[in-house]
Amino acid sequence: MAERFLPYGHQTVDADDIEAVVKTLSSDYLTTGPEVVAFEKALAAQSGASHASVLSSCTAALHAAYAAIGVGPGDEIVTSPLTFAATGNAALYLGARPVFVDIDPSTGLIDPALIDDAITSRTRAIVAIDYAGQPADYDALRRIAAQHNVSVVADAAHSLGATDAGRSVGTLADVTALSFHPVKLITTGEGGAVLTDDADVHSRVMEFRSHGMVYEGSRLSHDEGPWYMEMQSLGFNYRLTDIQCALGRSQLRKLPSFLARRRAIASLYDSSFSSVSGLELPGRRPGVEPAWHLYVVRVSEPSRRRAFFEALRRRSIGVQVHYLPVYRHPYYQDLGYSEGLCPRAEDFYARAVSLPIFPGLSDGDVARVIETVTAVAREVLA
Ligand SMILES: Cc1ncc(COP(=O)(O)O)c(C=O)c1O
Repeated sequence: MAERFLPYGHQTVDADDIEAVVKTLSSDYLTTGPEVVAFEKALAAQSGASHASVLSSCTAALHAAYAAIGVGPGDEIVTSPLTFAATGNAALYLGARPVFVDIDPSTGLIDPALIDDAITSRTRAIVAIDYAGQPADYDALRRIAAQHNVSVVADAAHSLGATDAGRSVGTLADVTALSFHPVKLITTGEGGAVLTDDADVHSRVMEFRSHGMVYEGSRLSHDEGPWYMEMQSLGFNYRLTDIQCALGRSQLRKLPSFLARRRAIASLYDSSFSSVSGLELPGRRPGVEPAWHLYVVRVSEPSRRRAFFEALRRRSIGVQVHYLPVYRHPYYQDLGYSEGLCPRAEDFYARAVSLPIFPGLSDGDVARVIETVTAVAREVLA
């Protein structure tokens, strides 16, 4: 009998999540109702950020966050390319340009030492990606940002619940974007959020997600009537529904147990693979407790990566690769970015393989991943 396919990531949805969702279906609000407000309150409480706004995806959250800090046509954001295309795309939506700087080769996180040289008079923000669930070095990034009077944005699609020296994701950068896609730390199907302590940024995000409409602070000199709302800026429909927020709120209650399971699996992988030759394990920043969205090993020899990947897939271990450096996508190449721009990110990509890690993996599943990866590494990488 073929063994069960173990994907690299998978949602964990239980009966109480389903019950929470079903309850909203017979309530008065399917969208823009009390579950939205309650989920936002819960996200702010979990992270320690003063404000949370939920949006239809992390892509929407990044778009709104960049717009809210003033990124516009002709501007630049400084970011790293080891990420999903959305981090760069959200700048392109606004007519801005991502400037890519290279990563720390051990962690895959943006290397603060390279940022100064990339900053110009057009830079509006430094955008760090918490690759695989580990917070970037926001203390260093904030120091650089303060010198140049730019904002720090965290693309925390991978890192809800992670901490750095005890401080939570959501409080480390000026603005933080989360993802609730099913493979992420918690899910709402599709979904995302912006966290910030800045009340002005928060209110601009709220406007941006709903067509730029405002109910108060009209520019009219007279009182038109109690029905009146007006559009003061160009926004989108980036709202998240009450149905989704009910799922999100139920999921968020389980975040501590999800994280504990991810951390236990990562620690088993660390100890089991440390003696497997041909494999490099994920590097850790001191003081950081990652959320372990991904567990990414690197093969020593890039030419063996494909054979390693395919052998694992044949044995139903659903490995994946995160990520092709953003500027190597043909669309970015057409914009004039050239291959070789960030050699460390290219080397990272060429050797990376993400192993299955999610709370629903049983002890038996984890043992199977460890056994199979060890055996395949011996066959293919030795
Ligand atoms: C680092 C990163 N940023 C942004 C996104 C976009 O998230 P979403 O699918 O919620 O729009 C992803 C999704 O995979 C991601 O991994």
